[in-house]
Amino acid sequence: MGENTVPVRVRDQNGLETTLAVERGTVLRDALIAGGFEVYGTLSSRLNCGGNGLCGTCGVRIDPPPEPRKFHDTAAARFGYPRLSCQIVVEEPLTVEIPSKTMWGQLLPRRPERS
Ligand code: FES
Repeated sequence: MGENTVPVRVRDQNGLETTLAVERGTVLRDALIAGGFEVYGTLSSRLNCGGNGLCGTCGVRIDPPPEPRKFHDTAAARFGYPRLSCQIVVEEPLTVEIPSKTMWGQLLPRRPERS
């Protein structure tokens, strides 16, 4: 690992762990996608905000949790929800867990209302 890279340990939805060498200053979402990890659910992989911190579908759990920089991520940190990986810049070694996207980051089609 070079002087400008830091280890990011990633545990995926199946519990498998991998360590990525991530260049400092890289957005975590981008590093995870480049590493082959799925940060989105099935539909939100196509319907997301492109890393602008608006859709809330790129959530991951992070240790140690960095200081939030944006309102949505501040709320996530305050209430213990997964943090927005598109709003995290990798500056130090991290451990990341990608939660099941059946709940986080999954946009489900509307169901017809029952009468
Ligand atoms: S990609 Fe939309 S909030 Fe992160």
